[in-house]
Amino acid sequence: MHIINRNSPCWCGSGLKYKKCHYDFDQKIASIQYRGHLVPDHSMIKTPAQIAAIRESAKVNIAVLDYVAEHIRAGVATEEIDEWVAKETARYGAIPAPLGYEGFPKNVCTSINEVVCHGIPSPNRVLKDGDIINVDCSTILNGYFSDSSRMFMIGNVSEENRKLVEVTRESMYLGLEQVKPWGFLGDMAQAVNDHAKANGYQVVRDIGGHGVGLEFHEDPWVSYVSSRGEDMLMVPGMMFTIEPMINMGTWEVVIDDEDGWTVTTADGKPSAQWEIQVLVTETGHEIISY
Ligand code: MF3
Ligand code: CO
Repeated sequence: MHIINRNSPCWCGSGLKYKKCHYDFDQKIASIQYRGHLVPDHSMIKTPAQIAAIRESAKVNIAVLDYVAEHIRAGVATEEIDEWVAKETARYGAIPAPLGYEGFPKNVCTSINEVVCHGIPSPNRVLKDGDIINVDCSTILNGYFSDSSRMFMIGNVSEENRKLVEVTRESMYLGLEQVKPWGFLGDMAQAVNDHAKANGYQVVRDIGGHGVGLEFHEDPWVSYVSSRGEDMLMVPGMMFTIEPMINMGTWEVVIDDEDGWTVTTADGKPSAQWEIQVLVTETGHEIISY
């Protein structure tokens, strides 16, 4: 273990002596680690300056999603949503994070009905009455990342699908309520999963959330199927996404081998997802992007 002199400047960049800044904090984390828990390292803890810059990025991300919310309707091709995202993001001097990310070909993910996530916008997929769609926006502003997604219901959506969308949103909120310092990511996951299961749904296991802010995808990987007290300790300054994908049928998913991206449910039944970017604060949490 790397030992920092108690009189040296704190690792967080505050300029204070370590013993007056994060010393007690680090001791507390070490004792929790000693009891066998997974704990964050310093790279997962954002400084106030970084948090401020990420908030600016998130303002753009939210504005782009608001634009989508105002314009989305039956008859719109997902390609047009991609164009809106490109244009609106650029208007704020920002960059859509998906474009070129590990070869992703578009500016935004558009995932309709049985598509779980990572749907690729296309001129050939026109929204029609009854569709449910997730629009997942991610923004880079001055090198800082934000990431959130929303569901939209197009026209007259079946009662079944409407319920899936609503329960998924409730699950995300129930998970969010569990985000507080000195709890565990598993507390959040269990809240998400319990609500999904109580409604007869299954939570996707193979795809999770992630740390975010300085990179698009940072540690930790975030599960929504683990249990209370499991997975990583949450401490102030950590930032990650809560983005459960909830399926009406089986949790099993398949990736399209033609495009290498589109994830669909294995049984072809619908799936919904909401994504929120959250910061762990001293007293609880703060929503960064939604
Ligand atoms: N926005 C997605 C997420 O929530 C990631 C998409 S990767 C991409 O993590 F390349 F498809 F954009
Ligand atoms: Co994400």
